[in-house]
Amino acid sequence: MDTYTLSNGVKMPVLGYGMWRNKNPKEAVQGVIDAISVGFRHIDGAAAYQNEELVGQGIKESGIAREELFLTSKLKNDAHGYDNVRREVQKTLDQLGTDYLDLYLIHWPVVHGHGDDWQTDNLETWQAFEELYDEGVLKAIGVSNFSVEHLENLVNHARIKPMVNQLLVHPGVLQTETRDYCTKHGILVQAYSPLKPLSVLKEEARVQKMLEKYDKSIAQLLLRFDLQVGVVPLTKSVHRERIEENFDIFDFEIDDEDMQYLKEWSHPEFTEPDNKNERPPQVS
Ligand SMILES: NC(=O)c1ccc[n+]([C@@H]2O[C@H](COP(=O)([O-])OP(=O)(O)OC[C@H]3O[C@@H](n4cnc5c(N)ncnc54)[C@H](OP(=O)(O)O)[C@@H]3O)[C@@H](O)[C@H]2O)c1
Repeated sequence: MDTYTLSNGVKMPVLGYGMWRNKNPKEAVQGVIDAISVGFRHIDGAAAYQNEELVGQGIKESGIAREELFLTSKLKNDAHGYDNVRREVQKTLDQLGTDYLDLYLIHWPVVHGHGDDWQTDNLETWQAFEELYDEGVLKAIGVSNFSVEHLENLVNHARIKPMVNQLLVHPGVLQTETRDYCTKHGILVQAYSPLKPLSVLKEEARVQKMLEKYDKSIAQLLLRFDLQVGVVPLTKSVHRERIEENFDIFDFEIDDEDMQYLKEWSHPEFTEPDNKNERPPQVS
């Protein structure tokens, strides 16, 4: 699969398999095995998803070599702070059955108890990320759900700039201001929940015409849209046929007019998530 090269030279496959809301042990393990056998080499997990042991089991059962995979995890919201990061990373490594992560992210910028001091909280947390990066345990480090003000805090005051920002990106939620800032600072954007507007968009006559024209499904159109925007879509399914479908997006191109339509499309149901206020601890 094609890759992006991060600002530190690490290569990331352009499409990833996500693990959110995938806690049924049988489905989670089989999903990872299926994703790897279909061709996914990039798995996006998080401590908050409470399934890292299942990801590790799936990887082991798949028989793939560790170095063939790009593995991401995220620091959970109730474990911010310099003193917690090393322990949390070790827990994740043990559960995944590996001794390094390709990418580790701060999951949310403003967490419970840090509404007023999120700047210091993020900088102290990030310092531990930098140390584990220096030690080679984390091959790349980044953030998730960070807007410009949250990014500026790290870019202006930390020793190492984030290499990645993982954001909600799909037609209706383009996060243009944040993406532009990321581009300017060499931060690659990953797109989570790329299929969120699937059921609403597929009712649109114009979109139905696109599906006929490209002979692709609505899921494939949405994933391809993110690829052409220049972000890395992360997509989750526990059904093998959908995993295959979601991987089959490299043999067509959405033309400029259709891209423009999808970029301009909006719907009141779809807005940027609230990342300014404290994220409740139980929400991933
Ligand atoms: N950083 C963050 O805060 C954050 C937040 C959300 C997500 N994420 C990451 O991003 C990943 C992707 O987001 P997401 O889980 O919301 O994924 P998604 O791929 O946008 O949506 C997944 C949903 O769509 C269904 N689906 C998958 N393929 C389909 C297809 N071809 N046709 C119709 N329906 C399909 C899935 O159902 P079935 O499984 O039943 O097929 C599931 O309900 C997550 O898994 C997680 O790793 C990160």
